Amino acid sequence: MKNNIKIKCETTEDTDNLAKKFANYVKDGCFVNLFGDIGAGKTAFVRFVAKALGVTEKVTSPSFVILNEYHTSVLPIYHFDLYRLENVGVKSIIDELREYSEGKKLTFVEWAEFSQGEIPFKFMNINVTYDDDDVRYYEFSSDYYDEIFEGLR
Ligand SMILES: Nc1ncnc2c1ncn2[C@@H]1O[C@H](COP(=O)(O)OP(=O)(O)OP(=O)(O)O)[C@@H](O)[C@H]1O
Ligand SMILES: [Mg+2]
Repeated sequence: MKNNIKIKCETTEDTDNLAKKFANYVKDGCFVNLFGDIGAGKTAFVRFVAKALGVTEKVTSPSFVILNEYHTSVLPIYHFDLYRLENVGVKSIIDELREYSEGKKLTFVEWAEFSQGEIPFKFMNINVTYDDDDVRYYEFSSDYYDEIFEGLR
């Protein structure tokens, strides 16, 4: 993809700071696919971004295709977790997801691994990987959102 940046977070505080930075550049909206193993830090990132945008309620993982929604003074946040969705289910939900990729909305989708690369609209991927202990890598990639990548550099 055209834009790619991989950021090392040594602690949850680093991830919090990365999320704050990201939150500063998403005011025009962004559709984010989150990939990574169980416990990698997908929901943690959503939680920190929501906090940075002023969400005071507790941000938890939505279970089985349930959507969590948060309203902020900046833009609405939508958080899906499709982890348990079967491959056929992924195809059926793509059309519904499209509307969450349009306009000033910040959408996060925690995906199952197999569903990567099937999205026919503008998106950003964040792939979260583990290292030792609290070390995590957040790799952002997209053909769009140049201004967000500028901000992250
Ligand atoms: N640098 C770090 N960044 C983010 N989370 C970290 C970091 N170090 C440790 N953690 C811990 O890793 C865990 C990440 O859990 P989280 O629920 O975000 O994972 P997930 O990727 O959403 O997993 P799942 O696939 O189960 O939804 C949390 O307990 C968090 O405190
Ligand atoms: Mg999660």
